[in-house]
Amino acid sequence: MHVNPASLNMLSSLLEARTGQRLSTGRHWRIEMALKPILKARGIASCDELVARLAEPGSAALCNETIDALLNNETYFFRDSEAFADLFKVIENIAVNRQGTKRIRIWSAGCSTGQEIYSLAMHFCDNAAQWRGWSIELLGTDVSRTAINRARIGDYSQFEIQRGLPARLMLRWFEQSGSHWRIDESLRKMVRFRCQNVLDVPPPGQFDLVLCRNVLLYFPAANRSSALQNISTVMAPDGGLILGAGETVLGYTDRFRVLPGVRSLYQLALSEPQQISSVA
Ligand SMILES: C[S@@+](CC[C@H](N)C(=O)[O-])C[C@H]1O[C@@H](n2cnc3c(N)ncnc32)[C@H](O)[C@@H]1O
Repeated sequence: MHVNPASLNMLSSLLEARTGQRLSTGRHWRIEMALKPILKARGIASCDELVARLAEPGSAALCNETIDALLNNETYFFRDSEAFADLFKVIENIAVNRQGTKRIRIWSAGCSTGQEIYSLAMHFCDNAAQWRGWSIELLGTDVSRTAINRARIGDYSQFEIQRGLPARLMLRWFEQSGSHWRIDESLRKMVRFRCQNVLDVPPPGQFDLVLCRNVLLYFPAANRSSALQNISTVMAPDGGLILGAGETVLGYTDRFRVLPGVRSLYQLALSEPQQISSVA
């Protein structure tokens, strides 16, 4: 089906205005594919007609639905297992500095449907004896309301549950209901979720660890810088920022410095290198 280039431009501009994500012209092919389910469900004949509908008054819900469909929500449990292994070591090292307060706060910015932050929750629960007496605060945020609503419920399809999750953890922390798997209530209650744009004012308080993995990839440079600047304002001085394997702070901000030893781990540039840097 031929889509008017003006419609594609309008849809990608809408996405960028609301989320900061840029769909370059070379990736415009994704638009038609991503919007097919909305067109079908709402009986809209084409992307051109959708664009016309979006211009009508009272189209806010359709607009949100369209933006959510255009976002890339790809995620899975323990995504990049090596990164998770490093992450667990980083948490151990942060804990050394938190013996006084016995409190750790972790923020997954761009958490999609929750698999990343629930993977961390499973790690803490699996090592319950070690963390007894600790306050572990886990926060997941995403600009997509659809993704956050799904994360809050913690309900996964057979396909999703099989991606990255060892069978032992699947059987321990999920209950099957037909073709779906529902997360255990105790795990669900460990994580708070909030709809939030990483380009807006960040959540209150200080975080010991921030995961912002595979979110910056499709931001233009200025938005990468803004997102990193925002995150830097809520990082503990000895805390860690973890980006995705294909992402970096280099060239976008001088607020963070690379920490050798762990892939994609950064610390505030203002602070002296601390315990966390000794992760090997
Ligand atoms: C590819 S997924 C990555 C999910 C998870 N962090 C992982 O690595 O598995 C990227 C997520 O970032 C979210 N996202 C995109 N732009 C965002 C923004 N401006 N603020 C917050 N989340 C955003 C998307 O909705 C999507 O759920």
